[in-house]
Amino acid sequence: MKYTIAIIPGDGIGPEVTTQAKKALDAVAEVYDHIFLYKEAQMGACAIDKTGDPLPQETIEICKNADAILCGAIGELKYDNDPTLKIRPEQGLLRLRQELELFCNVRPVKAYPKLLKNSPLKKEIISGTDIVIYRELTSGIYFGKKEISEDGLKASDVCSYTVDEISRITHLAFKAAQDRKKKVTLIDKANVLATSRLWRKTVAKIGEQYPDVALDFMFIDNAAMQIVLNPKRFDVILTENLFGDVISDVACVIGGSIGILASSSVGEKNALFEPIHGSYPQAAGKDIANPLASILSAALMLEHLGLHDEADAIQRAVEKSLDLGITTQDLKGKNQYAASTAKVGDFIADYIANQEDSNM
Ligand code: IPM
Ligand code: MN
Repeated sequence: MKYTIAIIPGDGIGPEVTTQAKKALDAVAEVYDHIFLYKEAQMGACAIDKTGDPLPQETIEICKNADAILCGAIGELKYDNDPTLKIRPEQGLLRLRQELELFCNVRPVKAYPKLLKNSPLKKEIISGTDIVIYRELTSGIYFGKKEISEDGLKASDVCSYTVDEISRITHLAFKAAQDRKKKVTLIDKANVLATSRLWRKTVAKIGEQYPDVALDFMFIDNAAMQIVLNPKRFDVILTENLFGDVISDVACVIGGSIGILASSSVGEKNALFEPIHGSYPQAAGKDIANPLASILSAALMLEHLGLHDEADAIQRAVEKSLDLGITTQDLKGKNQYAASTAKVGDFIADYIANQEDSNM
């Protein structure tokens, strides 16, 4: 089959890690006889430099017309250090999410046996953890009205949600739970926020349609603690945009490195796949960034396209690289030899190519 994939390398380490993901995809294409047609598009700081716009119209068109979108990372230091700048790289990603209505952000968090020692958390606490976070991505405080008073002494961000916005992701979270451990935990702040109370009411009602799935509720402050104290109690976490942003970074501690966590952002028509990590500009061009989050994002993309064996092949290759310790420095002890970004990518692509050969 032929698939058109929009590739957004982005900023910082984005181009390096997406190059490794493409290597893995090329190996998959070879073995399983597919054609992946890559269409490169600009977004973020690099797009501002070239066009003045973090999300040029051309990028939107390429993404809309692709079967899937693979994104690297967005962001540049000069913007982080200057909050007065009006045009910012992240606006590109946020606008793309909104334009394509990628409302459902899925972030799997797993404790890989080989990486248990990489987490600062105790092995017995994280071992066996398998969580998937369903984060609402196109509404809430991220997209509410933003105001700053003329004298610069007051600012506000409005957080609002509709029942429809809550319902569509809630159904997807319950469906995911049906194929997993059959538990949904809604994370909110219903003791304080009106939007959270609407989430609770709506999710509880929808939950009745899924009697095989257990539903519980947790406040975000407690959840941030429980996810490091007792992560195994969670199966599917369902939450709003801002809480999902925060809780998914906290959950990264379980995986041993933020460099291995992938995500998908899915709407009715389009889907985008990207690492959870940022653009890590300090490491750009040094060939030290961990490419696994991008490579695993490519695996999620194949899964989404219905290419399950192909996605498994990437997953197996990633696990092999971890087993053999062919990993970048973020996953290594101080005095251990770390592989470069490109080396890890090469190993994974080779393993996919040869493993399948020997299976045939
Ligand atoms: C994420 C990122 C983004 C977000 C930023 C880059 C706007 O942190 O995808 O988690 O806050 O959603
Ligand atoms: Mn984030």
